[in-house]
Amino acid sequence: MIPATHGSHMRLDRFLSHSSCLSRSQVKRLLHADRVTLDGRPVRDPALAVSEQSLITLNGATLPWPRSRYVMLNKPAGYVCSTDDPGYPVVSSLVDAPWAAGLHSAGRLDVDSTGLVLLTNDGAWSHALTSPRRHCLKTYRVGVKHPIAADLAQRFADGLLLHGENRPTLPAQLELIDSRTARVSIQEGRYHQVKRMFAACSNRVETLHRERIGAITLDPALQPGQWRELQALEIGSLPHE
Ligand code: URA
Repeated sequence: MIPATHGSHMRLDRFLSHSSCLSRSQVKRLLHADRVTLDGRPVRDPALAVSEQSLITLNGATLPWPRSRYVMLNKPAGYVCSTDDPGYPVVSSLVDAPWAAGLHSAGRLDVDSTGLVLLTNDGAWSHALTSPRRHCLKTYRVGVKHPIAADLAQRFADGLLLHGENRPTLPAQLELIDSRTARVSIQEGRYHQVKRMFAACSNRVETLHRERIGAITLDPALQPGQWRELQALEIGSLPHE
């Protein structure tokens, strides 16, 4: 894996809030007060693109390019992976580190789903992980309302037409754990995909717990709400295109 921030760009305001732990409004005020320079000149435009090669100062002090961070979290129910839903706390609020505000999740889980969520500030890495071309396998332990039909593994393997869509799902694997529990692996990330696959087969998902993304398995030592940084091998384990 290429060092994650090498050659990448980000907006100046994002860089400032990441590297100095300032809020967006504090950053705005500092920019307007000419306290920020880019390559020796005062700058005010928060949308300017900066890179690792840029020399950025705040109040005369040079700011370092923020380190890339990669985290696995055991998501509890009741947390959301995006900031779009103000009704629930976001998963990054569970990461008690000064750099947590800059993290976004690489692939989402629904608010009521639990288990493995990967968080990073490395946009290229999360993009690669979630790119449909990589067919990165996601594995879930799924509890359902009705007994699992005998032909379901075959139907998942054949592909299903989901409500409102005209392209069948790519082959998925279903392994029966007991009559109402299965381990399901999918290689796509469509909206509510696992729930909709069971709904298409007249069943209903009641619990959904993600165990694995690609080669990265949820660490069994992590209790719900706990996190740890990824190891180098995990960071470098992205599937090839
Ligand atoms: N599929 C779903 O339906 N929900 C999730 O949270 C993840 C996959």
